[in-house]
Amino acid sequence: MDNRPIGLLDSGLGGLTVVKKVIEKMPNEKTIFIGDQAHMPYGDRPKEEIISLTRHLVRFLLDQDVKIIIFACNTATATAMKVIAPEIDRQIIGVIQSGALAAAQTTKTKKVAVIGTTATVNSEAYVDEIKARDHEIQVSQLAAPLLAPLVEADEGPEIRQKVVEKSLAPLKADTFDTLVLGCTHYPIIASEIRRVVSPKTMLVDPADQVSQYTQNVLRRDGLLADDKQIPDHRYYTTGQAAKFTKVARQWLNDPSLETLHVD
Ligand code: DGL
Repeated sequence: MDNRPIGLLDSGLGGLTVVKKVIEKMPNEKTIFIGDQAHMPYGDRPKEEIISLTRHLVRFLLDQDVKIIIFACNTATATAMKVIAPEIDRQIIGVIQSGALAAAQTTKTKKVAVIGTTATVNSEAYVDEIKARDHEIQVSQLAAPLLAPLVEADEGPEIRQKVVEKSLAPLKADTFDTLVLGCTHYPIIASEIRRVVSPKTMLVDPADQVSQYTQNVLRRDGLLADDKQIPDHRYYTTGQAAKFTKVARQWLNDPSLETLHVD
């Protein structure tokens, strides 16, 4: 048994989509989330920069004595996880392996499309992970670099829909039956994405599988919290706490949620 918190990181608000699923799956676990909004988007940055920024977030979480770290960011998972994992003594769970597993289990036609940041798409991490599970699956990818900043900008519904339509226009409906939301910001605009793809398309949010996988790992390693533990969830941003709090309260349906700013 281990009552220390689960640490989660992302470049910004997107990681909250993973926090939400983790809280739903493991209601008595404590969580600490850090979003690096001062440096988002990560997806347009060179690899070395993403690694260095992610390393800072990992250090912050280790200083809070978390028991495990979830990279609630596809870009950090694709770019920095393999480099940072051997440097620390805590296990890191990424989102891409879980997303790939969910995609391979979901597709009926063996045709999967992945949307993500430029860094995630260029890494080909989803292609490799999906094909490792079933090499017959055809994977097409589309970088949608405007979508994570769109979520952060908290625009009205019309602008949101327009940017989503424009970003996803190159997707060809007949080339996939399963669409992976390969950036943790995208579930926040899932309804806008839903409107521009075929009604038959199955959307995969890796967070569902990630929360299940994290629970399995904690159970396996004897790290689950006491089931009588009163949970406590802490939120930090390197950006503006008030802006973060507004979206986080809505998304997590918690009107009393507070955020602290860290440099
Ligand atoms: N939420 C992040 C992801 O899952 C990245 C957004 C960004 O900073 O570009 O890839």
